[in-house]
Amino acid sequence: MTDKISDLLSKREQLKKGGGEERIKAQHVKGKLTAWERLELLVDPGSFTPFGTFVTHRANLFGMDKRRVYGDGVVTGLAKIDGRKVAVYLQDFTFMGGSVGEMHAAKIAATIRHALKTGVPIIGINDSGGARIQEGVDSLKGYGEIFYWNVMASGVVPQIVAIMGPCAGGAVYSPALADFIIMVRKTSYMFITGPRVVKAAIGEEVTFEELGGADVHAEKSGVADFVVDTEEEAIGLIKKLLSYLPPNNLDDPPYIDVGDDPEREDEYLNSIIPEDPLKSYDIREVIEGIVDKGSFLEVKERFAPNAVIGFARLNGHVVGIVANQPAVYAGALDIDSSDKISRFVRFCDAFNIPIITFVDVGGFLPGTVQEHGGVIRHGAKIIYAYSEATVPKITIIVRKAYGGAYIAMGSKHLGADFVYAWPTAEIAVMGPEPAVEIIYKRQLAEVENKEELVKKFAEDYRSKIANPYVPAERGYIDDVILPSETRPRIIKTLEFLLSKRERPPRPSRKHGVPPT
Ligand code: HXC
Repeated sequence: MTDKISDLLSKREQLKKGGGEERIKAQHVKGKLTAWERLELLVDPGSFTPFGTFVTHRANLFGMDKRRVYGDGVVTGLAKIDGRKVAVYLQDFTFMGGSVGEMHAAKIAATIRHALKTGVPIIGINDSGGARIQEGVDSLKGYGEIFYWNVMASGVVPQIVAIMGPCAGGAVYSPALADFIIMVRKTSYMFITGPRVVKAAIGEEVTFEELGGADVHAEKSGVADFVVDTEEEAIGLIKKLLSYLPPNNLDDPPYIDVGDDPEREDEYLNSIIPEDPLKSYDIREVIEGIVDKGSFLEVKERFAPNAVIGFARLNGHVVGIVANQPAVYAGALDIDSSDKISRFVRFCDAFNIPIITFVDVGGFLPGTVQEHGGVIRHGAKIIYAYSEATVPKITIIVRKAYGGAYIAMGSKHLGADFVYAWPTAEIAVMGPEPAVEIIYKRQLAEVENKEELVKKFAEDYRSKIANPYVPAERGYIDDVILPSETRPRIIKTLEFLLSKRERPPRPSRKHGVPPT
């Protein structure tokens, strides 16, 4: 072996040591893997094709001239996951805490550009102390360029980020600009300002976990789409999520036949809606009874649980599911559920994923908290997203569909291709009880005990207006179907609509201005 060959081989050995044995040990003590160990779990054996292998930083101040490793704390390359091409970057906490300097950032930006050029998803594993303090504005410039390329990639290739360590300060904006965030419980956190700064600035005492732990972001802020207990689970979830996504916006999502009979009818669905309109049930049972068995992958499960979103398959075809959840706030829409639904609808539309909507919604949540929080502008996002979406849109009204919420939830009027209703559907300006309180106000004021009369008027209103046949007569509902026949019916409808190519007659514009 010549000296030059052995020199290269020894450099390669060095590469995988990152910041050194001590730092690798410290990483393991925290229950975390190194970037190289994560890579091995993530990608198909032998598929990794690195770039920027020997990149180093070029900073000299604060002793940086003596702290250089090949790769500059981030592993970047192209690879395959379950045989499908992806671009990956994995931050290496063992070198300077995975901090982002100019060259480290340039490698991440190059990963995104490679993904854009070749039309493949971007998978990032973040584990970093943020902007490399010693590199000053060069580090900020690097972050700025990552954000810029995140935005350029939005709607072109799917972007998935798993947080496997700290993610603080402006660093949080790169994952926030991606499509999906996975967080690992207890070892990852995300916040703009850490607990020490919070204490100094506003005197609030809060732990890392309380401020920006995985559960907080899954339940309260809605920043995390998924939370898992281990890094291995996170990597498994990346692979599962990818199985529902096309490589880019010009391709279709992968078709996988899971062996569920497309003609299967679930009799149980015929009795799932309670007789009493005030009683609730779990919409997930409806979804799971209709989609291919075991195919439903719920997204943002714990955030805004009054709406349910996720991916599923219908006779092997990927669909996006949007539904109201009557078991929480009677399924009413609010600020958070509006954000949750609208972003998901836009994602599905960008990536050729048909949208199946299940409606059971009494309206928008009333009160000052919602009004002052801007439920008007948030709710408007749902209308914007459905109106804009040109992928196949199939809507099933299973029970209530009242007022603005009826229009917003994928109605015919916003461009749904097919709208079905179950016989239990009630479609009107508002629910029968509040409606009769208004239209029979004078008669009701004249009687001693108005409850009986309200009930009588409400039944009359329900039979004359709040049923599926009135809108069906006008063609706003294409058919009233048995709950049990929903699966075969929407599969047939979907398969006809798969060739849909809608180019609506839109006035020329640079872009719309959606409500925010
Ligand atoms: C340079 C950093 C660093 C950083 C960590 N290190 N963060 N070096 N720049 N931002 C180094 C540490 O000095 C240490 O180096 C090594 O990484 C491991 O860090 P430890 O502190 O030993 O690890 P741990 O105890 O696990 O604590 C991790 C940590 C802490 C919580 C992330 O290091 C920390 O608070 N770092 C600073 C975080 C921060 O304020 N970042 C700036 C955020 S603002 P040695 O020499 O010991 O190996 C920001 C702005 C971005 O990012 C703006 C973009 C728009």
